[in-house]
Amino acid sequence: MRRLIGLVLLGSLACGGPETTEMPPPSPDRHDLHSYSNADEIRTTHIALDWTVDFDTKTIGGSATLTLQPVGDAEPSRLILDTRALTIRAAAASVDGDRFTAADFRLGPSDPVLGAPLTIQLPEGATHVRVEYLSDPGATGLQWLEPAMTAGKQHPYLFSQSQAIHARSWIPLQDTPGVRATYEAVVRTPPELVAVMSAEMLNRDTGRTGEYRFEMPQAIPSYLIALAVGDIDFRAISDRTGVWAEPSVVESAASEFEDLESMMQAAEKLFGPYRWGRYDVLVLPPSFPFGGMENPRLTFATPTLLAGDKSLVGVIAHELAHSWSGNLVTNATWRDFWLNEGFTVYLENRIQEEVFGAERANMEAALEVQDLEAEMAELAPRDQVLHVDLTGRDPDEGFTQVPYIKGMLLLRTMEHAVGREQFDAFLRGYFDHFAFQSITTADFEAYLKKELPAAAEAVPLETWLNDPGLPADAVRPTSGAFEAVEAIGRRWVAGEIPASEIPWNEWNTHERLRLLASLPKEVGPDRMAELDKAFSITQSRNAEIIHRWLLEATKRGYKPAEPRVEQFLLAVGRRKFLKPLYEALAETPEGKKRALAIYKKARAGYHPIAQQTIDQILGVKGE
Ligand code: BES
Ligand code: ZN
Repeated sequence: MRRLIGLVLLGSLACGGPETTEMPPPSPDRHDLHSYSNADEIRTTHIALDWTVDFDTKTIGGSATLTLQPVGDAEPSRLILDTRALTIRAAAASVDGDRFTAADFRLGPSDPVLGAPLTIQLPEGATHVRVEYLSDPGATGLQWLEPAMTAGKQHPYLFSQSQAIHARSWIPLQDTPGVRATYEAVVRTPPELVAVMSAEMLNRDTGRTGEYRFEMPQAIPSYLIALAVGDIDFRAISDRTGVWAEPSVVESAASEFEDLESMMQAAEKLFGPYRWGRYDVLVLPPSFPFGGMENPRLTFATPTLLAGDKSLVGVIAHELAHSWSGNLVTNATWRDFWLNEGFTVYLENRIQEEVFGAERANMEAALEVQDLEAEMAELAPRDQVLHVDLTGRDPDEGFTQVPYIKGMLLLRTMEHAVGREQFDAFLRGYFDHFAFQSITTADFEAYLKKELPAAAEAVPLETWLNDPGLPADAVRPTSGAFEAVEAIGRRWVAGEIPASEIPWNEWNTHERLRLLASLPKEVGPDRMAELDKAFSITQSRNAEIIHRWLLEATKRGYKPAEPRVEQFLLAVGRRKFLKPLYEALAETPEGKKRALAIYKKARAGYHPIAQQTIDQILGVKGE
């Protein structure tokens, strides 16, 4: 019988149904070390969520009903789900999705990284399991904001961040990117707030009702399930794009991201159709720990992108690009993360080139490579490889520039070897071939060797994937504009020109960043003061520039920037900004003291993911 269902499903696929795909058979390289689930025996195909969001207790309570499909012929007698700090109230199973009977369940011991396995006994022929549960107020995948932490200061706010393995802290499920499921949800909230999800909003036009319904008809991995609840409004940019944000932010967000539709058109031209319906961006409060998160149909973004001059929209191009690399073709395990991020940085750059021109695209790529090289100098060899070994580690440890920028360089190098036309055709074929599938590095290699043998031969793939450092054949981006910036910087450092002759005010954000990132060690506090006097950099409102400036100021002991460092660390929760600043402060005993004092005030406002990072840097014990 099951075989038959499988065939029918495959049949409908052949007729062009793009939403669900056949599941690849289990194999060792597909095994996900970061999930307890028995996904090689049985997989979730659909998740129905029914939630009440309670800001008083900081909990999400309700149920998750999973539709299941055995992988092979044997029917497993149990289902193992991932959980972290969930209170499980009941479990039930059903053979028809309609009548449920109580099922035995057991919550195993909790591992600090992986959480606790939830084992549910399956009666014969079970096709559905329902778990009733309550999330913990400290759930690592949720941040509950007090009104004071929002722009409006009147209402609380909640948002989720599931990647990499935090979905399990607010939903009991098979928390592995190797399993894809469609989902639907009912979300009850206080009536004055709006809920949005990484899904189609079914009652978009009925206003604030306190009950919101969602449907995600495309099969996605668990880390892309996302929810936000707050006092948010919507502004359309085109008929399929727009922004959500708090009322006082939504206008500036809409103008900052006014190129959304052009970016989508560029991406579709390059990589094939956008397969997710709408593309909206939710601008979160400043404690959002990332620049952006590619939740399907609804990218989550930090408000630090709102520079007023569109100079930081590269992050949006990046998250949009994940609609192909990552969301459509997904890393099967966190070892394969570079397939998500390396491809995406490459795509992001191609989109930027289309929309803003090659000069800006090259500048961004050159800045990225500069950051990669700086970080790589500090990384252990085992962390400098694309196909990283995460055995016994938190997948978060794989979050470095390596999968991103080394991955991007691999793609650039292949593009260079075969020419753009061929490489673009390969990419379109790749997205089409693996659409709605989760794939491993080995799947990519096999496909490359078959479809683009010239690239596979020209580029030493094994070296790229498995060796530390940057291969000698890496094709690096070059920027004439940056050469000019560096030349002027050298002349100023050598004392040949005064700071006032640096054309800072004519430079764009990227040129300014390049100058700051290229300052040699000998530039001390007095020389920093010269720059600051000439261009008031300590007063900059561009988040990237102020971050880079404060970082260099801290490393060089430029004291006048100290109050701004504190202000910045108290105002912003983006981990990419916090981490290097706290690290730089912790370099000296006096700086560490300041860091601890600032962190004492700031910690409660940071996201659990950021707290974990900074706790480690400062040697603070989390609660
Ligand atoms: N998917 C990532 C964010 C992520 C990765 C969260 C792994 C948790 C675990 C997102 O697409 C991303 O890469 N964001 C970057 C911006 C990008 C332009 C490099 C960020 O937030 O800095
Ligand atoms: Zn990304």
